[in-house]
Amino acid sequence: MDNRVIIGGQWGDEGKGKVVDALSEGVDWVIRYQGGANAGHTIFIGEQKHVLHLVPSGILRPGVKCLLGGGMVIDPWSLRDEILALEQRGVEVRGHLQISASAHMLMPYHQRLDELREGRLKRQSIGTTGKGIGPAYLDKVQRTGMRMGDLRLPPEHIERKGIEKILSANELLSEFYQADPLPSRVLAEELVVLAKFLAPLIVDPHQVLRPVREGRETALFEGAQGTLLDIDHGTYPFVTSSNCTIGGVLTGTGLPPKVLGEIDGIFKAYLTRVGNGPFPTELLGEEGETLREAGGEYGATTGRARRCGWFDLPAARYAVDVNGITGVIITKLDVLDIMPTVKVATGYELDDEVLDYFPVGSGALSRCRPVYREFPGWDRPSAPCRALADLPSAARKYLEFLEEQLGALIIGVSVGREREQMIWTPTGVTT
Ligand code: IMP
Repeated sequence: MDNRVIIGGQWGDEGKGKVVDALSEGVDWVIRYQGGANAGHTIFIGEQKHVLHLVPSGILRPGVKCLLGGGMVIDPWSLRDEILALEQRGVEVRGHLQISASAHMLMPYHQRLDELREGRLKRQSIGTTGKGIGPAYLDKVQRTGMRMGDLRLPPEHIERKGIEKILSANELLSEFYQADPLPSRVLAEELVVLAKFLAPLIVDPHQVLRPVREGRETALFEGAQGTLLDIDHGTYPFVTSSNCTIGGVLTGTGLPPKVLGEIDGIFKAYLTRVGNGPFPTELLGEEGETLREAGGEYGATTGRARRCGWFDLPAARYAVDVNGITGVIITKLDVLDIMPTVKVATGYELDDEVLDYFPVGSGALSRCRPVYREFPGWDRPSAPCRALADLPSAARKYLEFLEEQLGALIIGVSVGREREQMIWTPTGVTT
């Protein structure tokens, strides 16, 4: 098993959790490198549904070591609760999970500021998950944040530092937002208790990842969110605050490029988006509703209904280019089983022009109208299929078209939520 990076090719929710779970058998490490509890990775094992927000999906494979990388923003309260909830269900966490000392701490005031800021923006809001992600990265960039490594300080230092940060956030809360201040002493004392629980898991990432750097141990890098939500390469300002694209793996782990291995892009067979921002292939009517219901398209983190639409090829090609994707995995093909026809955007109409590429940085995307190619739906379900040859021929034609247009091999197709509903196609889908 080589090292692999699993990257979302769209606006998140592509089904990365399932893919990471499938590919983590036999690897030494599963490493998250960016984002925080805004992610919601859902995995079904038999009848058990696991929704993970911070802990890497690899935790469900006994013996796999998991790392929360330095590029993440971690809410210690949520992390403790997630660990305890997993342990209550019989998943061994504390023997396997490690936390980079350089990951930033997401504090209750970040969450409060996120809500208040979104409230002020009203109709121009981003539609964040409300988990405090933007304010936490803001503190990191303006060099006022606390890091997970701080939880290894003596209790009185943690308490003092905590109080200092909360008091300073309280000034912003009360003076700028006219909101109630947070109880600094109570929260700082809670932080000291959390430190006792989490400190044994906090590690120096440069030391623990030495075997990965030296090629003696293998790693799977688990991306959160997706390319189009990347702070630099996504549909700014309707993005998250981290680098969900390939560069985030390097900055979020401190590992050099040579260890990355294969770069797999995960794409749903259609497209969804949560939150605001342009979405040229969005289906606002009945078809969108049908996709949402068939795909269970409700956020794993916030429960919000996801916006649904057709596969957008220019956007997907952009994701392939930006990340250097070497293998594509198409998920939720079975959701299209009920559609009488399936459409794919091959380009956009913008003013009097037809674009065959994804326009970046100009706000033009919101004025783009999709140009579609239509495919007939398939006559029988793909969900029971376990090999490429079993798939209905119309579904195969659809996949072959995507493979040709993306310029990268489709190496896997997921046809349902269960672990075994996966078809591996290492040499692609075109015969
Ligand atoms: P934030 O990451 O909470 O700041 O939210 C910024 C944008 O990213 C919003 O549109 C969110 O809906 C979106 N977003 C954040 N995390 C995810 C995710 O895991 N899946 C899908 N969308 C996400």
